[in-house]
Amino acid sequence: MTDIQRIIQRLLETNPLREPVLRSIIQTLNLPLASLGLDVGSGIGLQALLLAEAAGTEGHITGLDISPELLTYAETLVAKAGLSDRISFREGDMHGLPFANDTFDWVWSADCVGYPAGELCPILAELARIVKPGGSITILGWTSQQLLPGHPLLEARLNSDCSSYTPFLRGKSPELHFLRGLHWFREVGLEQVRAQTFVGDVQGPLNNSQRTALTSLFEMLWEQPQPQVLDEDWQAYQRLCHPQSADFVLNLPDYYAFFTYTVFSGKKPQEQTR
Ligand SMILES: C[S@@+](CC[C@H](N)C(=O)[O-])C[C@H]1O[C@@H](n2cnc3c(N)ncnc32)[C@H](O)[C@@H]1O
Repeated sequence: MTDIQRIIQRLLETNPLREPVLRSIIQTLNLPLASLGLDVGSGIGLQALLLAEAAGTEGHITGLDISPELLTYAETLVAKAGLSDRISFREGDMHGLPFANDTFDWVWSADCVGYPAGELCPILAELARIVKPGGSITILGWTSQQLLPGHPLLEARLNSDCSSYTPFLRGKSPELHFLRGLHWFREVGLEQVRAQTFVGDVQGPLNNSQRTALTSLFEMLWEQPQPQVLDEDWQAYQRLCHPQSADFVLNLPDYYAFFTYTVFSGKKPQEQTR
């Protein structure tokens, strides 16, 4: 399996977990009907479909992504949903968006802009350039999880020793962490800036798609063993997180887990000073 195929598989597998909470977040945005929206880092188009629903039949969503392979998949997905007239895709880099000033009514980006850490200021300035005065900018990212009920210390160590986030966070200055987003929204002159965290959860008995989603998530988060991981933690991980194990945690009839998405949003002033 190529890296791109693996990314597509993970996005599809974990979608049943993410979709309900992302849907709730979209509802709170009150996107204007018939509006023009941009989804930055649109991946395989899963959220473009939800955003198109929210913007109504007269609205239009543009999905932008740097990966041509993901865009091709997204176009097929959207065509299958019969929404190709309301959602289009464009290849591009969020650091230099291929759109004129004041093009969109709103911008959305999930698990891409500034996530899990990065230089948010120039990207937000770029988003503010292409959004119309009064338009909104919303960026969100997966910020935490508790997936191994009863094993909080093991889970904390797995997060610290095996986390797939480590390479993106190690050595980064605290100011560049995603949760410092409020500062950067204000820094680029956005108004009505706010942060809010939403919770997604799941409880046993799990259906098949929830089991697949959580198994995929375990692998995504912790499957890459790092040199510093303790042998006993690695064995405990395999015992609890592998479907073939007799102690597979998802077999608990009363399994319960949750995760959070944190959303930063702001509006471009009516009279933007550039
Ligand atoms: C974790 S995926 C999230 C995809 C989608 N937003 C979702 O939540 O399902 C991150 C996406 O950002 C895209 N991406 C990464 N760097 C980018 C850049 N510089 N410009 C545009 N897209 C980028 C990747 O190709 C990928 O599709």
